Amino acid sequence: TFSYTRQREMKGLGHAILSGEPLIGDQPFGVVLADDLCINADGPGVLAQMAQLYKQFRCSIVAVMEVPEDEVHKYGVIAGQAISDDLIRVETMVEKPAKEDAPSNLAIIGRYILTPDIFDLIRDTEPGKGGEIQITDALMAQAQKGCVMAYKFKGKRFDCGSIEGFIEATNYCYDKLYAH
Ligand code: G1P
Repeated sequence: TFSYTRQREMKGLGHAILSGEPLIGDQPFGVVLADDLCINADGPGVLAQMAQLYKQFRCSIVAVMEVPEDEVHKYGVIAGQAISDDLIRVETMVEKPAKEDAPSNLAIIGRYILTPDIFDLIRDTEPGKGGEIQITDALMAQAQKGCVMAYKFKGKRFDCGSIEGFIEATNYCYDKLYAH
């Protein structure tokens, strides 16, 4: 079964996720931002890796990767307490900070597993960066009240929202799928 809903106003990613509430109800769910293409050629996909972690921690999980300092302004950026090599318990989250204000260089990539209490938190979230209702701000509130984990996923990520990233992804997939 495939159902869809539509965000009628451009009020940000948090608001877009909230418009999915009638379809989701009271269960955990995944969010995939399609302009971030994630490929793990050697094992389970990124959301599947995160679903596995969800079973262990039962809290919201965001995918993160290290990015160069001068790119942090394009992303939600997290910092927190390292639980293991690839897992961090989030203590801080900032949407698109200036380089000087970034708490780290760990950028959120468009894969999330969210617990349904996020909906009330989004409702309570004031417009933030760019005047939009940011999922990053709602997740920061969730991290303060309970627990949010950041996961350094296994696999490659392409920013298909940029021409360079889109071409890089096309070439990578061509090489992997067709060239041999
Ligand atoms: C969104 C999120 C941001 C995240 C990014 C990942 O930003 O708001 O926190 O790091 O996706 O691609 P957007 O790229 O939609 O501006």
